[in-house]
Amino acid sequence: MVQDKDIQEVLFSEETLRCRVAELGAEITRDYQGKEPILASVLRGSYIFMADLARAIDLPVRVDFMSVSSYGKGTKSSGQVQITKDLSDEIEGKDLIVVEDILDSGNTLYYLLQVLQARHPASIRLCTLLDKPERRVKPITADYAGFTVPDAFVVGYGLDYAERYRNLPYIGILKPSVYGG
Ligand code: IMP
Ligand code: MG
Repeated sequence: MVQDKDIQEVLFSEETLRCRVAELGAEITRDYQGKEPILASVLRGSYIFMADLARAIDLPVRVDFMSVSSYGKGTKSSGQVQITKDLSDEIEGKDLIVVEDILDSGNTLYYLLQVLQARHPASIRLCTLLDKPERRVKPITADYAGFTVPDAFVVGYGLDYAERYRNLPYIGILKPSVYGG
């Protein structure tokens, strides 16, 4: 693809992603037997993961979407988080699974989970495709995590840099020269 030239190293191929997402789906299916969890996707980075994960879960799930901003065009989160689009449905008494693309500093989710807890769901768990534990500044751990990634800026499979690269079918490390690093 034309954007391949900006990728320094492919971390997870399409096939690797497919296998891991299937495992996460099976795990959630086991853990939520008899329940109808709501998958709450944090846009936009998790949109592809969300679509694949939902189809890997063998339960009557519901899907909902919300959007927060904390990054602008940079590669580091500001710690200032804003809900720019809220969930469409009420979550009180519901089993909520927050679906994220990557857990980095934890600033975004720390804030988001507080906001969602205050609405009194029956339960709330976090499912992230990628986990970058080295950069964590807030005490957050994922209940379900696909892969651990090194401290590098990664793109593809939904993840962007300045809104580009989301459509790459794999996840790779972006060449630092692209963002002037
Ligand atoms: P946090 O608030 O630092 O945990 O950042 C969370 C959000 O930052 C994620 O949902 C991503 O949208 C974005 N993000 C963090 N690291 C990366 C990365 O390596 N590539 C692309 N987006 C990232
Ligand atoms: Mg993002």
